[in-house]
Amino acid sequence: MHLKIAVLPGDYIGPEVMAAALPVLEAVLKKSGHTLEHSTHDVGGAGIDNHGKALPDSTLEACRAADAILFGSVGGPKWEKLPPAEQPERASLLPLRKHFTLYANVRPGLLLKNLIDTSPIRPDRIPNGVDMVCIRELTGGLYFGPKSTKEIEGGDIEAIDTMVYRKSEIERITDVAIVTARARRKHITLVDKANVLQTSVLWRKVVADRIKATAPDITLAVMYIDNAAMQLVLKPSQFDVLLTENMFGDILSDEMAVICGSLGMMASASLGANRNRHGLGYGLYEPSGGTAPDIAGQDKANPCAQILSAALMLRHSFGLEAEAKAIELAVEKTIAEGIRTADIAGGGKAVGTKAMGAAILARL
Ligand code: IPM
Ligand code: MG
Repeated sequence: MHLKIAVLPGDYIGPEVMAAALPVLEAVLKKSGHTLEHSTHDVGGAGIDNHGKALPDSTLEACRAADAILFGSVGGPKWEKLPPAEQPERASLLPLRKHFTLYANVRPGLLLKNLIDTSPIRPDRIPNGVDMVCIRELTGGLYFGPKSTKEIEGGDIEAIDTMVYRKSEIERITDVAIVTARARRKHITLVDKANVLQTSVLWRKVVADRIKATAPDITLAVMYIDNAAMQLVLKPSQFDVLLTENMFGDILSDEMAVICGSLGMMASASLGANRNRHGLGYGLYEPSGGTAPDIAGQDKANPCAQILSAALMLRHSFGLEAEAKAIELAVEKTIAEGIRTADIAGGGKAVGTKAMGAAILARL
């Protein structure tokens, strides 16, 4: 198979973790006889600095021509003085998600056996470990609804974000949760705020109807967002598949990530309805964390989330399950051997980004 990918490292630690991930990806593909064609493009702050815009036309064109996008992370203090809508996150990552209709964000929350001591949850509270997946709606809700800021009577200022959801948007993300749950423990927890929000009332009805009509083998639990935030730390093992709207998913997935050891461990796949040249899901793959400006340029960042995102890409956009698994096992083995970046070293001896990447590569 010939894999054509667009590589968008982005800002701060983005290029550092990407530099650790690419050799791993190249090695696993070479070993299994596949060919990788990749080109690197500016995005986010790098796009602003080098092309005057966060999502340069040439970058978008390269993404369009590729089978999948491997994304680093964007944004940071350097561009915080720009008008909000021109800043890297809003002007590159969100338009990319929207442009390619990547409505389903899949974030696996698996606590590796050897990272139990790194989790903030007491080991006796998670005797059976933690293994959940967040299915976050990614192209709707507050992120994309009408926005405005204006001066009103009395010299006051009013800002508005709007949460908008359509039945069809809820149905298609529910279908992703159903497929995900079927390959797992067949349990979905819908997280919402149906005691307050009109959109949540619609979510509850549409999700319940959809599961009843198309997936009677799946069990459904519903939970308010405030309770879910608490239940996640109280008893994370109760969750299999979490299904939720855009902003709730953004918040809960960070919480899930630290429960599973570190934000630096959580990969993500953003998928939609588009197919690539192989007839498989076109997707964008990125670490769930941000650009970490505080540790950028110091060879400190954990490259695991980026490396595991490449594994998700092989699985979802290329159907290369064995190769994806090989990467995941190499990460697991490296951590089991005690080779860890600072975020997962628990105060013990830590290695840098490059050494971590090299150790994973060596264990492939
Ligand atoms: C994420 C990030 C983004 C989001 C930011 C960078 C816009 O936090 O992917 O979780 O909120 O979706
Ligand atoms: Mg986030």
